[in-house]
Amino acid sequence: MVITGTTKVLGIIGSPVAHSLSPQMQNTTFAALGVDYIYVPFHVLPEDLATAVAGLRTLSVVGFNVTIPHKTAIVSLLDDLSPEADLIGAVNTVKCEERRLVGFNTDGSGFLRSLSEDLACEPQGISVLLIGAGGAARSALVALAGAGAAAITVVNRTMEKGAVLVNRFQPFFPATFIKSTGLNAFEQPAFMGGFDLLVNTTSVGMNMTSFPKFNPSSMKPSAVVYDMVYAPLETPLMLAARQQGLRTANGLGMLAAQGDEAFFIWTGRKPEQGVMRKFLLTQYAK
Ligand code: ATR
Repeated sequence: MVITGTTKVLGIIGSPVAHSLSPQMQNTTFAALGVDYIYVPFHVLPEDLATAVAGLRTLSVVGFNVTIPHKTAIVSLLDDLSPEADLIGAVNTVKCEERRLVGFNTDGSGFLRSLSEDLACEPQGISVLLIGAGGAARSALVALAGAGAAAITVVNRTMEKGAVLVNRFQPFFPATFIKSTGLNAFEQPAFMGGFDLLVNTTSVGMNMTSFPKFNPSSMKPSAVVYDMVYAPLETPLMLAARQQGLRTANGLGMLAAQGDEAFFIWTGRKPEQGVMRKFLLTQYAK
């Protein structure tokens, strides 16, 4: 790749950011498409967020991704939000349009696409068990309810946070029955039997951890399990589900799909099908 005076700049802001696969994933895509963009990591501390965003605006970068811990804090620094980002209250992609900063959230749509591609699961009319109540859970909940899920049960360690999610989003999605409960729901043997889809949005599963008492043995044979964790590629939760004969997917597909969508927002072009996904699989197959 040759960087010239006309090369357009994209990037990612986060803290930490060194672990992010997005720079390689996006630059691989630029190379495959032969477009004159470069994507770089910017380590931005929370206390520097406002000045960093002002700097990016002044430098007229084309756009940038936003990761932990800035996804919520950046909202108030932007000029406009997409309807999804506004509803979710979090932004993972910013487009700079002549110094105006517009925030998008491609996590939810990336999740839905991965759900369809990796598990042939379409949310219309299904009953979902959603574990977690953080930013990732908000994106998933809005995406699932928006796609017509019949019911969503939020299970979270801190029960109050689950209840906050229900109160916030139920009014927007009257056709979806949304409720919340604590992790102790896993202690009831029949609890798991009512769901078509289980989604883990928490970091539980990294370091090979799992939820105490989690047992998928009463899940419907047709149920599918999506874990947003992708390191390891198979979490203990996924392994337990697979051993029950259930189909499972990790979060790699979502990472690739949200990257595809961000690329489209910035460049107006659809990346070649599967470039980002292939890159990620190569990285993790090592
Ligand atoms: P993100 O934006 O990535 O979703 P977050 O907003 O910090 O991150 O939310 C993390 C989620 O993972 C929360 O639902 C959190 O549960 P609490 O609300 O009780 O904090 C959940 N989580 C993190 N570590 C957990 C653990 N060890 N056991 C159970 N839940 C955990």
